[in-house]
Amino acid sequence: MIKNLVLILALISLVACTKGFSEKEKQEYTLKGKEIAQASFKELSSNLMTQMKAGGPAKAIPFCKEEARNILGELSKEHNAIIKRSSDQLRSCKIEPTVRELEVIDMYKQLNSEKKETKPFVEIDAEGNKQFYAPIKIQAKCLTCHGKVNETMTAKTDSIIKTIYPFDIATGYSEGDIRGVWSITFNN
Ligand code: HEC
Repeated sequence: MIKNLVLILALISLVACTKGFSEKEKQEYTLKGKEIAQASFKELSSNLMTQMKAGGPAKAIPFCKEEARNILGELSKEHNAIIKRSSDQLRSCKIEPTVRELEVIDMYKQLNSEKKETKPFVEIDAEGNKQFYAPIKIQAKCLTCHGKVNETMTAKTDSIIKTIYPFDIATGYSEGDIRGVWSITFNN
């Protein structure tokens, strides 16, 4: 009897939580999130590569500090969403991960270590907003500034980074590691 009651209550809360967010909407927003994350990645990457070509890490690192968040700010306006990159090993102290972002990063790291798929997804956050997450993985070209010092990253680059970001802990990564998450909050 009590067991049944618990089950019914659990079902009711499940229905209440997913109310107003159908499977179709979930798919639609996951797709939208993926597109925004991809466009944002492309925009950051191409800007970064232009700077790298022009002057290597010494030029690209200060550029990231000045412009990365502005670029995401502009894209946020364009897409009517808040586009954020978050990590559990931060370089920029201006990016503070939420408790949920840290949980999602942990989940992706676990899946990644088990060689399982790390899929993007959408959920409703505590304020009732549609919230998208996707993993950010380390590629070979990221190692110049996020790799292992004296192995995949030069001590010189590390010292430039440490001068600008004295509290940097965003190094030591290998290709394929989870660097963080895209965290996109839709405004509608
Ligand atoms: C030229 C050096 C450089 C390269 C190459 C680079 N990054 Fe970064 N990365 C930075 C800097 C500098 C910041 C801090 C930006 C800021 O102050 O907002 C940063 C910040 C980040 C952040 C935000 C979280 C944090 O720790 O501040 C993520 C996520 C990230 N990088 C992922 C990547 C990925 C993935 C790649 C490869 C596709 C990459 N980076 C390549 C220099 C670089």
